[in-house]
Amino acid sequence: MSFPVPLLAAEPELQAAAAALASEYQLPATDTGADFLLELTREGLQLRWRSKPEYQPLTLDYTRGKQAWRQQLGGGKQEAVVRAVGLGKGFRPRIIDATAGLGRDGLMLAHAGCEVWLLERNPAIHALLQQAIVHLQQFHLEQENAEHWSCQRVHMLPPGSLLNAADIQEQLLAIAPHTIYLDPMFPEKEKSAAVKKEMQILQHLVGADLDADSLLPAALAVASCRVVVKRPARAPFLAGQTPSSQIASKKHRFDVYIKQAYPKATA
Ligand SMILES: C[S@@+](CC[C@H](N)C(=O)[O-])C[C@H]1O[C@@H](n2cnc3c(N)ncnc32)[C@H](O)[C@@H]1O
Repeated sequence: MSFPVPLLAAEPELQAAAAALASEYQLPATDTGADFLLELTREGLQLRWRSKPEYQPLTLDYTRGKQAWRQQLGGGKQEAVVRAVGLGKGFRPRIIDATAGLGRDGLMLAHAGCEVWLLERNPAIHALLQQAIVHLQQFHLEQENAEHWSCQRVHMLPPGSLLNAADIQEQLLAIAPHTIYLDPMFPEKEKSAAVKKEMQILQHLVGADLDADSLLPAALAVASCRVVVKRPARAPFLAGQTPSSQIASKKHRFDVYIKQAYPKATA
């Protein structure tokens, strides 16, 4: 049996702030004995895996380090995920990243010019990601840079899933997404090449997304133009459905399901 991930203070002075955050995210404010734990530190939230004390707690900070570097220098139109979504002749699709996870792909798409809404169903991952987005946006607002792409084009949806689309019907109608982006967990074999530590943490926390196949028809029902699915290079198609086209990167494949062409960009 798995217990809900609690959100606790890493030091006594942060107890009130941690309790407020736990209440905001509807997470337990007392220890549930879960193997994972969200801790509020002076630097922000971190996700600790208690049965793997040798692992550094997972933190998300898109304002500095490797994560910021990737947003600033990597990416752009060269990234496979951006090419799969397609930015034809100045048109910038509205995208729902419906398996947002740690937000890396979603932020890459926003950085490339798309307006992106992040949707994540795991409450602990949702909290970690939302706090990272709030921190990124505040960082740029404090530098009087409200025009920054993160302030202009990144939005967080409440925790949820396209598989319960009725719960977010209003938001879906308001966004009217051209594109849905999907990157569900893929069950990794124990002996497969070393999965990055943060992916291992995700895999253990959220599990194998065994309902992933149902996401494809749900996404096709909501997106007006296309659905893009990220898969490991040799994985079978999601829901066994052959895509309209594919874009390959070193380790992944982006399967593109086209419903109709994007509208022409207006000047
Ligand atoms: C492989 S991770 C996504 C990684 C993400 N693309 C990134 O760049 O960080 C998959 C995530 O999708 C979430 N997820 C899976 N199925 C979902 C669903 N039906 N609705 C919402 N989130 C879902 C999982 O909880 C997990 O956090």
